[in-house]
Amino acid sequence: MTVTDQDRMVCGVHLSEDERSVIILDQTQLPNRQVWLTLNTSEELCDAIRRLSVRGAPAIGICAGYGIYVLAQQIRKDDTAEFRALLEKQAEELVSTRPTAVNLSWAAKRMLNVINSNIDLPVSQIRTLLREECIRIHDEDIQMCYAISEYGLSLVKPGDGILTHCNAGPLATSRYGTALGPILLGKEQGIDFRVFSDETRPLLQGARLTSYELQKAGVDVTLICDNMASLVMKNGWVQACFVGCDRIAANGDFANKIGTSGVAILARHYGIPFYTLGPTSTIDMNCPTGDEIRIEQRDPDEIRTMWYKEPMALPEVKCYNPAFDVTDHSLLTAIVTDRGIVYPPFDVNLKKLFASEEG
Ligand code: MRU
Repeated sequence: MTVTDQDRMVCGVHLSEDERSVIILDQTQLPNRQVWLTLNTSEELCDAIRRLSVRGAPAIGICAGYGIYVLAQQIRKDDTAEFRALLEKQAEELVSTRPTAVNLSWAAKRMLNVINSNIDLPVSQIRTLLREECIRIHDEDIQMCYAISEYGLSLVKPGDGILTHCNAGPLATSRYGTALGPILLGKEQGIDFRVFSDETRPLLQGARLTSYELQKAGVDVTLICDNMASLVMKNGWVQACFVGCDRIAANGDFANKIGTSGVAILARHYGIPFYTLGPTSTIDMNCPTGDEIRIEQRDPDEIRTMWYKEPMALPEVKCYNPAFDVTDHSLLTAIVTDRGIVYPPFDVNLKKLFASEEG
């Protein structure tokens, strides 16, 4: 698939026309308002990622790529080493905003590698190469999502019920999405599914974003509370679970939005295939198992007060608010990537996936 300027400009994260800012669709305002934000400074970029104005593993990677390019244009240094030192510091700040999704550090590393591999070039030329790299990161994501969507579509049949958790649609990526990709690509091809979207407490990405994206696309979507998934499965309404991922370890364990592992356990109980769909940029072969994945802890007020007219708990009540959990690879039917569908044993087959790319 060839990516055009137009393909990039319609995405929820893109470069401004003058290429001086990153433009994002503020996901915290959806589904009620479409508000576009213009991000120029390191603080604005970090804040937008931390607040989840831009969220979803691939989308924050794309934002980091563009962000580093935008910041690179503001550094007034002619000495490449000085330029690199300043940009490295800003990239580190960006990466520290969210620790679990690997795409953020993966994209920042790619941008910094451009400088390291061209350290003898003048800063002006390095800026041009950084521009090309951030656009490449975005284009690759669009292409990877399309490939994932095609592979995912081969796993289900028309009319199937698909349950999803959190949001792994175009808003969380570039176009099509990962977990929602097969459903949206299917819709384009006249194939209909019935989708059950977990609301996804506490930040309601399923309610605010997934049901929004699917409804707008004309997909048959039913929003359910997280604790209804078991009954929906028991009723025989779900033939497959499709979820995204924030980091896949080398043994197939993977981190995704809190609650994902519970869905996987339920799916195993009811004999429903459970898939995670993600680009190869989300596979971290340097992370041996899920035990090594750092889980982001978030503000307790997301549970107590956020999204409510009145607090839902006493302010002094203790809350535990991990943003992600790790699903054990034993619960996973397959990993759907842009390079194909990976089945167990994941430790062996994930290695093969990367070996085939190198070979
Ligand atoms: O905290 P979030 O909303 O960024 O969490 C997002 C998820 O867990 C997604 O499922 C994951 O990033 C995959 S997005 C294609």
